[in-house]
Formats: sequence, C-alpha cells, structure tokens
Amino acid sequence: MKILSLIMIVLGMAVSGSSIAQDQEEFNSGGLETIRGATNIDETRKAEALKRVHKDRNPIARNYVHQPPVVPHQTRGYRVDKNSNKCLTCHGWKYAAETGATKVSLTHFETRDGKVLSDVSPRRYFCSQCHVTQADARPLVENTFKPVDSLMNND
Ligand code: HEC
Ligand code: HEC
Repeated sequence: MKILSLIMIVLGMAVSGSSIAQDQEEFNSGGLETIRGATNIDETRKAEALKRVHKDRNPIARNYVHQPPVVPHQTRGYRVDKNSNKCLTCHGWKYAAETGATKVSLTHFETRDGKVLSDVSPRRYFCSQCHVTQADARPLVENTFKPVDSLMNND
C-alpha cells in the first residue's frame, strides 16, 4: 500500500511537471508584438509613463456625430461622487453662462427609456465614464482615419 502511494506521488509530480512546461509554451508570445509589446502573457509589463494632459484649450474637433467630446482641460482633483459633481459646477445649465463652459446637452437629462428629467440623468452623472482628457500621444496603431466630411471644419 505504501509503495503504491509512493508511485502515485512520483507519477503525479511527473504529470504536473510536464503541464508546467506546456503552460510556458502557451504564455510565450512567440516574438509577436501587440499593443503591450512582445511581453509574454504571464509577465507583468512595466507601465508606460503617464502622458501630460493638455492644459486649457478650445474644444477639440469631434470625429463622428455621437462622439462624447474629449475634455480640453485638466480634470485632476475634480471630484464626482454621490454628494457633489465638480463638472456640473461649470457645465450644468445653471452655471454655464457664467463660467463659459459648454452646457451639457439635452441627451444628458434623458433616462434609459427616453424620459426627460429636470436634472442630469443618473446614467450621465459620472462624466469621465465617457469624456476623457487629451494628451499629445502617438497613436498606438498607425491608421488613416479621417472624420466624416460634415464635421471636418469643426476645428
Ligand atoms: C472651472 C470650470 C470647469 C470645470 C470644473 C470643468 N469644465 Fe469642462 N470645460 C470648461 C470650459 C470653460 C470649457 C471650454 C468651453 C469652450 O471653450 O467652448 C470646457 C470644455 C469641456 C468639454 C468640451 C466640450 C466640447 O464641446 O467639445 C468637455 C467634454 C468637458 N469640458 C468636460 C468636463 C468634465 C468631464 C469635467 C469634470 C471632470 C469638467 N469638464 C469640468 C470648464 C470647466
Ligand atoms: C454615457 C456617456 C456620457 C456620460 C456619462 C456623460 N456624457 Fe457628456 N456627452 C456624451 C455624448 C455621447 C455627447 C455627444 C452627443 C450628445 O450631446 O449627447 C456628450 C456631449 C457633452 C457635451 C457637449 C454638449 C454640446 O452641446 O455639444 C458636454 C459639455 C458634456 N457632454 C458634458 C458632460 C458632463 C459634464 C457630464 C457629467 C455630468 C457628462 N457629459 C456625462 C456622453 C456622455
């Protein structure tokens, strides 16, 4: 009985050893470069340095009609939580005229089933879920994308 269990243990070790070798092969990118470089899947790649966000500038042209416009100013430290929403202190209808910020559009008052509320709808409350700040960065993948013709002069 003792010998049998010993054999089982040795066999088990052999099997698990070979499956580790197999796994390592699966993790190997084979030299193929993806957006995260030629890093193997089981390796943690060093994070890229943070990009410098544009300081205040005029609105940035949109590329298609329903694009959430990108944020042309810094937003560091702008709190958006259950109790307060820093973005709305400028972009809310109440303050927009005074601050010179674009008013949030009517779509931001609509609920999921098309009801229009008297204040920003919960689904449009967390602004940075859709609106991102911009940095001067090289495109990750080269492309020849051009905005639709009707938006070309939006600069
Ligand atoms: C201190 C006031 C202020 C605060 C706070 C603020 N913004 Fe702005 N925002 C502006 C102004 C001013 C503009 C530029 C408007 C212009 O030049 O036409 C702008 C522009 C924008 C635009 C571009 C609009 C367009 O038509 O392209 C977006 C998107 C935006 N802000 C999102 C945000 C978000 C999201 C937050 C919160 C994280 C935020 N803003 C907080 C003042 C503010
Ligand atoms: C679920 C995504 C989403 C969220 C969340 C969201 N937005 Fe938008 N936003 C959009 C889209 C899409 C557009 C462009 C089309 C439109 O007006 O609906 C837009 C347009 C805008 C514009 C330009 C309006 C105009 O008249 O051109 C401003 C300013 C803006 N959003 C600010 C905000 C602020 C401030 C918040 C947070 C209170 C917010 N958004 C939350 C998707 C979103």
